[in-house]
Parts: sequence; structure tokens; C-alpha cells
Amino acid sequence: MVCYFSYALNLTAIQKSLIKSIKRLKEEKRAVVLCHNYQRPEIHEIADFVGDSLELCKKAKETDVELIVFCGVYFMAESAAILNPGRKVVIPSKDAGCALSDMITAEALRKEKAKHKGAAVVCYVNSSAEVKAESDVCCTSSNAVEIVRALPNKEILFVPDKNLAKFVAKQVPGKKIIEWDGYCPIHQRLSVEYLLKAKAEHPNAKIIAHPECTQEVLAIADFVVSTSGMLKVAKESDAQEFICTTECGMLSRLQRDLPQKKFFTVCSVCFDMKKITLEAVEKSLRDEQYEVIISPKVREKALAAFEKMFYITDKMRASVATTC
Ligand code: 13P
Ligand code: SF4
Repeated sequence: MVCYFSYALNLTAIQKSLIKSIKRLKEEKRAVVLCHNYQRPEIHEIADFVGDSLELCKKAKETDVELIVFCGVYFMAESAAILNPGRKVVIPSKDAGCALSDMITAEALRKEKAKHKGAAVVCYVNSSAEVKAESDVCCTSSNAVEIVRALPNKEILFVPDKNLAKFVAKQVPGKKIIEWDGYCPIHQRLSVEYLLKAKAEHPNAKIIAHPECTQEVLAIADFVVSTSGMLKVAKESDAQEFICTTECGMLSRLQRDLPQKKFFTVCSVCFDMKKITLEAVEKSLRDEQYEVIISPKVREKALAAFEKMFYITDKMRASVATTC
């Protein structure tokens, strides 16, 4: 799909009243609403923070409120519960899953690990808590390259996204990356053909792609970045026009935050990301549901993988800051 997206949020009277009620409930319950960039625009309206997976992990880890209402997909809410066990974490739709994270199980990963004894297991956060617990370190779309580069291991078992694995392998040629055969169906279907068509119509536009896209798409992109990275590059670039290829929800965020720039898109909808509605958020706050519960044993091991990710990312970014 190719379209020009212009941001205009026209809320209905019912939505306005739900937003009022949600704001009141947030205060009453000492709650914070964390929201992924792909969520519906009206959910952005009631969020305390909107961001990509890494930013959301950081926020979840740092917050000291009573209740975290996570507007995203299940693995994201699980990550918040792993990172901040002292808080109650709820997700307004308990069946907001992620097709990519469903492409691997802890048992299947254990079998693969046995075949690659010297390899470090790097796990993209789009995975279950059990899979994270079997991994040495987590990564997100915004730090995967840094994490793999920083590890001492020459062999890396990278799970579960083969597209991100291939992207990382290109940036870190000195390492052997063993990829899992998983992918995001939403990004997998974004085609070069449509992108080239959009580029022919808008030759001055820069192409921004998410690293979950295929290698063919990434090869023609000007920037390959996380969802919040898209916002950053569009803001900092001198270019005035962009073709953004990822999940469709990203476009409302870009257009709302950068109204002076023009965005086109070749996108596809992640219906799991759209399962959370204002009604569901209000009910979630009122009834404190659906709580994300993780067994202490799994949590402890998954947390170690997360802590290693934060340690490496902080160290790498601090060293870049001091050398600049
Ligand atoms: P980001 O971490 O880049 O926001 O990506 C999450 C995701 O699920 C992309 O499909
Ligand atoms: Fe998962 Fe793909 Fe949806 Fe992201 S867009 S949440 S990777 S299914």
C-alpha cells in the first residue's frame, strides 16, 4: 500500500469522555500508561510515554508508580513486568500477541543451543519471557548491532528474527551469525516493488525502513532504524520528504510530531497492535486487568539477559559520547 498520510485526530464525544475518565483513573490509581509507537493515535493521547521497545523498557524499569498499564503487545508488557517486579503490570487486551515472538519456544531454543555450544545467544525482545530466560543477552531493533559487536563470542545464535539477524551480520562482518527462521509477517510483506514505485513518484524522498524488513527492502533504504529512530532521523535530516516502510501506525506519530515534513508510506497493519482501544484501557485501569504474571525462576534469568543488554548499551553509548 502506498499513501500520503496527513495527521488529523477527530475524536468522537464518546472518545473524549473516555479520555477524561482514563485521566482521572490514572491519578486515582497512581498509574502510568506506556504506549508503543504503533498504537492507535487516540491511545497516544492518554499515554504518559510513547516510544520504541528500548525506550519503553527503560521507562518501565525506572517508574515508581503503583500500576503500569502497557499499551502494546504482550511481550512488551512482559518485559515491563520482568524489569520492574515491584509494580503491577497490566495489559488492556490479553490477546494482543506478536506473530514474530510466536515463532520460537524455549524448548526449541534449548535444542538449537545444544548444537552451537560456543555461541552466545542474542535474543530480540520480540520473544517470550521463557525464551529470554534461555538467552545470554536481549537486544532491540535500536541496539542489536551494538550488542552483537560488543560480545567477545565469534559465533552468535540470533533469535527469532532472521531479517534483523541478516542486517546485524552485514554490520558486523567479523562474526558468524546463526539465524533463527523467524520473521514478522507484517514487515515481510512490504515489497521492493511498491517502494520503488513510491520512490519514482517522490524522487526527493528518503526511504526509512525498519530492520524487520527483508534484505531487498533494506538494500534500497537510506536509513534502517527502530520506530523511534525513524522520528529522530526524519527530524535531524535536511530532507523534507520521506517514504517510511513499517507498520502503518508509525505514520501518525511522524506526521503529528513533524508536521512541517511530508511523509509517504509503504506499510502494513499489525492488527495485534490495534487491539487496545480507549474502552479497553479504561476497563484495564478500573479493574486492574489483565495482570502480567511471570514465574520468579523465569523472571530472574530473563532479567539477567536484560541487564546485560543495558550494561552493554550504556557502556557503548557512554564511550561514543566521550570520544565525540
Ligand atoms: P521497535 O522497537 O523499533 O519499536 O520495534 C518493535 C516492533 O515490534 C516492530 O515491529
Ligand atoms: Fe510483532 Fe510484527 Fe506486530 Fe511488531 S509488527 S508487534 S514484530 S507482529
